[in-house]
Parts: sequence; structure tokens; C-alpha cells
Amino acid sequence: MKEVLNFCKSYAADFGLDSPSILMTGETGLGKTHLSLAIGLEAVDKGFGVIYGSAQNLLNKIEREHFGKNGNESETVQSLLDCDLLILDDLGSEFSTQFTVSVIYNIINTRLLRELPVIISTNLTVEELESRYSRRVTSRIIGNYVTLAFYGSDIRQLIKD
Ligand SMILES: Nc1ncnc2c1ncn2[C@@H]1O[C@H](COP(=O)(O)OP(=O)(O)OP(=O)(O)O)[C@@H](O)[C@H]1O
Ligand SMILES: [Mg+2]
Repeated sequence: MKEVLNFCKSYAADFGLDSPSILMTGETGLGKTHLSLAIGLEAVDKGFGVIYGSAQNLLNKIEREHFGKNGNESETVQSLLDCDLLILDDLGSEFSTQFTVSVIYNIINTRLLRELPVIISTNLTVEELESRYSRRVTSRIIGNYVTLAFYGSDIRQLIKD
């Protein structure tokens, strides 16, 4: 975890459009959201446009826009494709449908082609990600993202005890 923290500190300090994408994996309460937000805040301080959202909230919003009155490409999708840094929190917590899987593929694939950084955090293992999002999504993540595996005890539980 010390290595994970040091990596995140220098990632935040050196953040730029050419920064790599990150996959944070690990069980609940290990500080993934906390660290990704800390990186996001530092990027905002440097003047970058950052979007943070849980996969669940972002996908709900995209779904509403897509199936809404005008039926155009969702404005939210456009901003997720265009922003300097996208933080997609809790991937796997959303209710998964063919639509959500294709939106996730589009976001990951397009940002990869544009070489724009993404930080994904998830409670799922790589195998679980694969069975949910297909190999086309996971192969892009595994092949191109820096994976940070979080270990330890649930901080929420530690604070309470
Ligand atoms: N370095 C830290 N020092 C003190 N508190 C921390 C630290 N990192 C995280 N926390 C606190 O621990 C709790 C859990 O952290 P966080 O929400 O980031 O975990 P998570 O890995 O995102 O969990 P989940 O997988 O359930 O989303 C939060 O209340 C957070 O504020
Ligand atoms: Mg979290």
C-alpha cells in the first residue's frame, strides 16, 4: 500500500494529458475513492478539466438522456469522452445491461484512442470484470492501464472500532 500511495502521489504531482490510465482494484473501504478524488483535486488545481462520478450515477444519467425525448447522443457521454481526466468510481456497482456494457466499452475505447487518462476503481477482480464486460473491454484495460491492487482492512470498520 505504501507503493500504491507513492505512485499516486507522484502521479498527481506530475499529472498531464499524457499520464497513464489507472485501474484501482480491491475490496471495500480500502481508500480507492479517497485516493482517486485526491488525484482529481490536484489535477483541478493544475487547471485540468476533471469529471468524477460513480459508474452507477453516470450510467443512469446517460441512460435517461439516451432514452429521453430527443434520443440524441447523450451530452454526458460527450463530456466523458472529452474531459482531461475521467474518474469512473465503483465500476461494477451499476445494474448491468447490454446498453451499459456498450457505453462502458465506448468510453474506454474512445479515450484509449485519444490517449486521454481514466482512473477506474472497482471491487471486482479482473476475472469478474471480464465476465461482466466481455474480453474486448477487459483486454483494453489490462493491456493499457496501470493496475494498483489495494490490500488491507476496511478503514470504515477501523474508524468505527
Ligand atoms: N488515507 C486515509 N486516511 C484516513 N481515512 C481514509 C484514508 N483513505 C480513506 N479513508 C477513509 O476510509 C473510508 C473508506 O475509504 P474509501 O471510500 O476511499 O474506500 P473505497 O476503497 O473506495 O471503498 P469502496 O470499495 O467501498 O468504494 C472513507 O471514510 C475514507 O474517508
Ligand atoms: Mg469507493
